[in-house]
Amino acid sequence: MSGAIENLFHEDRQFPPSDDFRRAANAREEIYARAEADRLGFWAEEARKLVWRTPFQTILDDSDAPFYRWFTDGTLNVTESCLDRHLETHSAKIAFHWEGEPGDTRTLTYQELHDEVCRFANGLRSIGVGKGDTVAIYMGMVPEIVVAMLACARIGAAHSVVFGGFSADALRERIADATCTTVVTCDGAWRRGKVVPLKENVDAAIDGESPVERVVVVRRTENEVEWSDARDHWYHEVVADQPATCEAEEMGAEDLLYILYTSGSTGKPKGIAHSQGGYLTGVASTFRNVFDHRDEDIYWCTADCGWVTGHSYIVYGPLANRATSVIYEGTPDHPGQDRFWEVVARYGVTILYTAPTAIRTFMKWGTAHPARHDLSSLRLLGSVGEPINPEAWMWYHEHIGGSRCPIVDTWWQTETGAIMISPLPGVTTLKPGSATRPYPGIDAVIVDEEGNEVPPGGGGFLAVRSPWPSMLRTIHGDPERYREVYWSRFDGMYFPGDGCKSDEDGDFWLLGRVDDVMLVSGHNISTTEVESALVDHHAVAEAAVVGRTDPRTGQAIAAFVTLKGETRGDDGLIDELRGHVATKIGPIAKPASIVFTADLPKTRSGKIMRRLLRDISEQRQLGDVTTLANAEIVEAIRSGAASSSED
Ligand code: WT7
Repeated sequence: MSGAIENLFHEDRQFPPSDDFRRAANAREEIYARAEADRLGFWAEEARKLVWRTPFQTILDDSDAPFYRWFTDGTLNVTESCLDRHLETHSAKIAFHWEGEPGDTRTLTYQELHDEVCRFANGLRSIGVGKGDTVAIYMGMVPEIVVAMLACARIGAAHSVVFGGFSADALRERIADATCTTVVTCDGAWRRGKVVPLKENVDAAIDGESPVERVVVVRRTENEVEWSDARDHWYHEVVADQPATCEAEEMGAEDLLYILYTSGSTGKPKGIAHSQGGYLTGVASTFRNVFDHRDEDIYWCTADCGWVTGHSYIVYGPLANRATSVIYEGTPDHPGQDRFWEVVARYGVTILYTAPTAIRTFMKWGTAHPARHDLSSLRLLGSVGEPINPEAWMWYHEHIGGSRCPIVDTWWQTETGAIMISPLPGVTTLKPGSATRPYPGIDAVIVDEEGNEVPPGGGGFLAVRSPWPSMLRTIHGDPERYREVYWSRFDGMYFPGDGCKSDEDGDFWLLGRVDDVMLVSGHNISTTEVESALVDHHAVAEAAVVGRTDPRTGQAIAAFVTLKGETRGDDGLIDELRGHVATKIGPIAKPASIVFTADLPKTRSGKIMRRLLRDISEQRQLGDVTTLANAEIVEAIRSGAASSSED
């Protein structure tokens, strides 16, 4: 790709914080100046809010950059910040309201969570797991997944959570890469009323040569499972006679807390390695300030613990802040398309954190579902995972937030560990589609292809100029790849791989992955901007665009569009949409072709897979489809594309 990215889409709506929010918020405007004046001092202050066994003297060791190390001489056990310290005054506070997909429920107070974590930590030790081991966790969203993560942390074992929707092959590859000797799983997981056979997948994943010596199985769905007496243990038997206290292992701040695999667009999955002290500092600080968390809040992050969002903002960030969270096991459409809103109303959720893919799905399903429920408990909304198109932002704001709740659009990555760019709800004036400003202590900039900072109003590449505590430490087993992927594009800067532009106020607008940028007649055009222009049309729920090779313009824009509700697409609507994009952002961005489709190909974490749409547009053999959540849609789109109208 050459040249910086064009800035085409203009969005003028603004939402300043209400006086109530401004007055009561955890974070005030001054926090930016404080962090700016002394970045390391700011992070040290945030880190000192945690429980340390040995207080750190060193804040940052940059002697072996880009292998940065934080709080190196400090020691701690992260579970003491997340559990033990809350017990003296808040042992009866609810840590989790858990709701199973079939409708069964469980509540865990901080005392009960602590006791269960200790029992399982002791249980793991009793079957031979200890400091330095890596434990694979392959489970559904049951309370025991959180318990398992924390029990590992308690005894100094690293966890490697593998999303329960991944196949046996994906699990095998991840187990081998991290040399996991133990797997924690469930007999099965509930998904849309059906059982996903997790234990069966584990059996397949460790069949033949495998480092796995033991498997612990939580009973959930009560389906039949194969059993190996020598290797398999029931969770309830492992914890049965264990005491509810467990001496926590003292860990160095830089010891490994967990590995989490991120697939990236090509190649072998990368085992992103996170440490103890720096990671907890980042997630605890951002949870407090970005979600403006208060003791009386009921917080719900709809992610799965298989993704980093679940690690940082279901487990470690909320627990370090003594939050009360909701965990829901199943899908948003079971038994009805209003399940989320029913849950929000029943628990009185005040803070809701979800993903644009979910929001666009709710737009498709229509406003009647949320309208049937009392959502007045909500006071703050969050978004993460993809750029949120301004119209999806407005829909979320009006139909879920009752035009009353600020929305924090949080940009970050598995690699960054914690939120990097986001509004602070009592400080920042919100703009639909903009993640606004780097978090205090985060030195993010927009640069051109030479690495020079782009002035406000310009587009280019997002980069981070200084290290931050929750950053990844390496790619497990491949430090060279770490250096090469993240630190070689721009000298001395972290390169996340996203395009970004800023406006006159210096606010950031994320433009999607750099690999997806389209080159049309010499202009670099972001997929996000064209998609947002399409979603701006009242008939459109979701859109994806890709560049397809074109002899005249280099690349031509091919669009794939999903319509709201019962709307049907025809040639008239295609003309209208092309005209809409032309007026909204300019004729250069007009799609050459538009295909209507019932859905878009998505990864299991809900991101649109543009690579496959490129293959379809250029009539190539499809690349790897194993990471797709909805493989069946690809054929449908392919036949639609063959008969689509063209310029
Ligand atoms: C990529 C990271 C962060 C937890 C979930 C995803 C995209 C994420 C935003 C946002 C625009 C976003 C980026 C990023 N992304 N949040 N608010 N606005 N883009 O973690 O799977 O590691 O993906 O997701 O492209 O690089 P991940």
